[in-house]
Amino acid sequence: MLQNVTDIQQEVIDYNITDIVTLEEFRLLFLSKKGKVSLLFDQFKTVPAEQKKEFGQKLNDLKNLAIAKLTNAQADLLVSKTKIDIDFSLPGDSSQIGSRHPLSLVRNKINEIFNRIGFTISDGPEIEDDWHVFSALNFPADHPARDMQDTFFIEKNPDILLRTHTSSVQIRMMESQKPPIRALFPGRVFRNEAISARAHCIFHQVEGLYVDKNVSFADLKQTLLYFAKEMFGKDTQIRLRPSFFPFTEPSAEMDISCSICGGKGCNICKHSGWVEILGCGMVDPNVLEACGIDSKEFTGFAFGMGIERITMLKYQINDIRLFFENDVRFIKQFTSEA
Ligand code: DAH
Repeated sequence: MLQNVTDIQQEVIDYNITDIVTLEEFRLLFLSKKGKVSLLFDQFKTVPAEQKKEFGQKLNDLKNLAIAKLTNAQADLLVSKTKIDIDFSLPGDSSQIGSRHPLSLVRNKINEIFNRIGFTISDGPEIEDDWHVFSALNFPADHPARDMQDTFFIEKNPDILLRTHTSSVQIRMMESQKPPIRALFPGRVFRNEAISARAHCIFHQVEGLYVDKNVSFADLKQTLLYFAKEMFGKDTQIRLRPSFFPFTEPSAEMDISCSICGGKGCNICKHSGWVEILGCGMVDPNVLEACGIDSKEFTGFAFGMGIERITMLKYQINDIRLFFENDVRFIKQFTSEA
């Protein structure tokens, strides 16, 4: 029996506690209710009376030994876990910084350019009504843009729809504020189009509006020339071609000299030296009147451009779908931009 105690004592001494798993194994093996030390205590009853003193003492020593080993190992493990084990001389890991989406970069740049010449920035709802998207903007009742083929309607209600352009925010602005108004409206727009490299059913526009006394077409031209030079470089030229929009009269489309070939002719400008970037014009008097602004006292200009188109030109991106796939290999290329 005494030999038994000595054997277990040796086992306790030899047991190698290296981590919390072996620590728990040790506790179970020796100190739990069914552990080896506890079992020896059970045998104490059967020890002859004359040996009880010596056996009891040895047993207590063994128990204390096992408990001491357990608590020491516990303390050691705790210390090694919380020990600050850092070599301060090692080079640090640079933290991963995300990058802005190219569309955000270009939108911010457009905002900033127009901000400098006094344009404020406003937003409007993406779910709109017919009045703000079409009627107040002088679209005739039978205009094809009002067709299901071009516009997403909400729950078959022909009055509620996803805005097809940010010109709707012009109306909200003119309804809620008196001239002078000089504002920019960036935002997301929706069109019922098949998705391809050149078109998407979701894209982004920036609309601009300036209404005051004596605003002229010359003001429009000068503002847009300033924008083109700031956005695409100081040698950029512009040209305006007559066009038609229901909400502007006269209307124009603006081309810039091709920023890729400098006007010499390349694939991007289809060898014409010019690329179209926006629509613009003088706000139609009907639109001013629809918003309660006296068209005899005030005139205004407006313009609208697609952010994807500007971004594709600026960075020579040839597939609009890349903007919406969020492939980090694409997005990461813009990390160094502000
Ligand atoms: N809303 C037009 C579109 O989505 C763009 C546009 C053209 C806006 C001419 C204007 C403008 O303000 O004057 O195609």
